[in-house]
Amino acid sequence: MAHAFKATIVEVRAVAPDHVELLLESPELSQAIPGQFCHVLTPGMLRRPISFSRIDAQRHQVGLLFQVVGSGTAWLAQRAVGESLDVMGPLGRGYEPPVDGRPWLLVGGGVGIPPLFAALERWGAGRRQPIQVVLGARRGDYLIMQDDFRALGVTPVLTTDDGSLGQRGTVIPAVIEWMVRQPESEVMACGPTPMLAALASAVPASAGPVQLALEQRMGCGIGACLACVVPAQPVGPEGPRYRRVCTEGPVFRREELVF
Ligand SMILES: Cc1cc2nc3c(=O)[nH]c(=O)nc-3n(C[C@H](O)[C@H](O)[C@H](O)COP(=O)(O)OP(=O)(O)OC[C@H]3O[C@@H](n4cnc5c(N)ncnc54)[C@H](O)[C@@H]3O)c2cc1C
Ligand code: FES
Repeated sequence: MAHAFKATIVEVRAVAPDHVELLLESPELSQAIPGQFCHVLTPGMLRRPISFSRIDAQRHQVGLLFQVVGSGTAWLAQRAVGESLDVMGPLGRGYEPPVDGRPWLLVGGGVGIPPLFAALERWGAGRRQPIQVVLGARRGDYLIMQDDFRALGVTPVLTTDDGSLGQRGTVIPAVIEWMVRQPESEVMACGPTPMLAALASAVPASAGPVQLALEQRMGCGIGACLACVVPAQPVGPEGPRYRRVCTEGPVFRREELVF
């Protein structure tokens, strides 16, 4: 059963306009699997789900990298080193490790980029198969963590909606280009639902597992309130089955979802 506890902030980094990364010290959170999330209490007794941007089990540290979009994230962005956060986690179903012997494509959109960095950091070292990272954002200065990927030896393909950095448009043309060259690749992605829906259709059936992490709005984060449900397979005469993103996701296999 998930419980709330305190985690101390050991570093605060301004990583881009409106984007802050907090490093927390917490033996419990540092047991996370990439793709899982932390439910952080903000004033008004509401919690906000944030993915782990880095997970360091040896140093007992995790990163939370978020964009300021409203009151909860604005409050989080004003926190200082030495303060502690009331957290629950690690929560949800994370990514399954990549399959040996297949090329690996990681696709992140906006604040969906951090969990993919955590995945590459965890599972990327020593793989002999090719790895491709495609990152997309609305504008160039929102393309977070590029240098972190480069530090792991992977040069990301960059795309922006406004063309201010990298290829103009969505991540999808770069995904298709890669899949034509490496049709057996397995895919991990996180980002806005329209991006994941487009990706789910663009990746051919020849691919390995396609794992998609959803950024659904949440309430309780532990399976009780049903605020986070999404339509899922199987779709019967009565309609689709609904699944809770907080406990049955946020990572789902492509074939489990209905877009
Ligand atoms: C599993 C999971 C992992 C997440 N990981 C991250 C992360 O690593 N970094 C990050 O920046 N954000 C992440 N998010 C989104 C983050 O939870 C929201 O941005 C945050 O809760 C907004 O809180 P707020 O009080 O600042 O904004 P609010 O005042 O609650 O909302 C401000 C605006 O943001 C929109 N919004 C709020 N939540 C979401 C959401 N989940 N999806 C789309 N739009 C939303 C609202 O509709 C509104 O327009 C994640 C969400 C989920 C479900
Ligand atoms: S957020 Fe309450 S059931 Fe998922």
